[in-house]
Amino acid sequence: MAVTDQSQPSWGIATQALHSGQQSSPQRENSLAIFPTSSYTFASAAHAAEVFAGTAAGNVYSRFTNPTVAAFETRLAALERGEKALATASGMAAIQTLFLSLLSQGDHVVVSRSVFGSTATLANTVLPRFGIGVTRVTLADIDDWRRAITPQTRLFFAETPSNPTLELVDLTLLAQLAQQHGILLAVDNVFCTPCLQQPLQLGANLVIHSATKYIDGQGRVLGGAIIGPEALLMERIYPFIRNTGPTLSPFNAWVLYKGMETLPLRIERHCHNAAWIAKQLTSRWPKLQLHYPGLPSHPQYQLACRQMRQPGGLLCLELGSKQQAHQFIDRLQLVTITANLGDAKTLVTHPATTTHGRLSAEERLSAGVTDGLVRLAIGLEDAPDILADIEQALR
Ligand SMILES: Cc1ncc(COP(=O)(O)O)c(C=O)c1O
Repeated sequence: MAVTDQSQPSWGIATQALHSGQQSSPQRENSLAIFPTSSYTFASAAHAAEVFAGTAAGNVYSRFTNPTVAAFETRLAALERGEKALATASGMAAIQTLFLSLLSQGDHVVVSRSVFGSTATLANTVLPRFGIGVTRVTLADIDDWRRAITPQTRLFFAETPSNPTLELVDLTLLAQLAQQHGILLAVDNVFCTPCLQQPLQLGANLVIHSATKYIDGQGRVLGGAIIGPEALLMERIYPFIRNTGPTLSPFNAWVLYKGMETLPLRIERHCHNAAWIAKQLTSRWPKLQLHYPGLPSHPQYQLACRQMRQPGGLLCLELGSKQQAHQFIDRLQLVTITANLGDAKTLVTHPATTTHGRLSAEERLSAGVTDGLVRLAIGLEDAPDILADIEQALR
């Protein structure tokens, strides 16, 4: 394969999204080829032994490496301004790989309280079974993170803005605290994508993605990734992936690679639509409780302005009770009910009974997931049409 990746670190994000990780075969195709192969051939038994031993370059088996997956990894690493990315089969595969490759029995991890439901379940129920200590803290409260540190703490895990409460943490301060104590900081950057926030530039060591969301952008496939320093990824994380198999398929890698080509453009429109709808709802429904980091009423508005290039495409309504939340959702006509986000279509979710439904009521509340909370992942439709649907359902 003739590799033609000529990406320059000086390129802007839209150029990176279109040209980094570019490869072509002798066919000189302009759009990335898919290599749906589980294994690769060797010229001789000796060659096979050399490639297996790592003394000769080459692919061995697609659980280890695959050219289409490698192109996806190169492009995502360029967007996040990281040295390397390792792809996984889903966002949760990335998070469990991160935990199980970096933590051992007796180690301790600090995880913010407001995180995606499966991440909370993984932290609360799976990690303790392997003798890994977990402390949950208030995302925004740096002192809470500081108090949670023990001599065994190896990892901080934060999601900012968090799913679904849209709470933020000051990544520069959190990274400083982690560094002072020799702790690695991993950030789930799903809600922002590298278009809005590059945590590695703010001092984080590792970034996690569910590529299923905005990176795909049309709700088609699952995928995930871990991005960070090459040495850390290759020494600690790659052996875990290679030997346990949470591998991304070539087809999904291709969809996600192509998805990145329009990511900056789509994120602009998601943010534009969400900001406009948030503003309209605030002025037309003054009693409505609305969470959106782009509104001055958001408790961390100043931090959002500093840390994120734009406030993102998600907004949440607080409707008072489960019954009112369900009624509102059932009245929507254009907006579809799913547990996803980052799709081109506007989606609605009731976190308390879906994505966070397996947590105890107490834990949901401590993470800010009230029964009346409704999450809207604003899509790419004409903003007045989305607003009209929300307003008719509110009425
Ligand atoms: C913030 C966040 N992280 C991780 C995940 C898990 O990703 P996946 O569904 O690709 O496993 C999700 C899924 O909704 C998410 O919202």
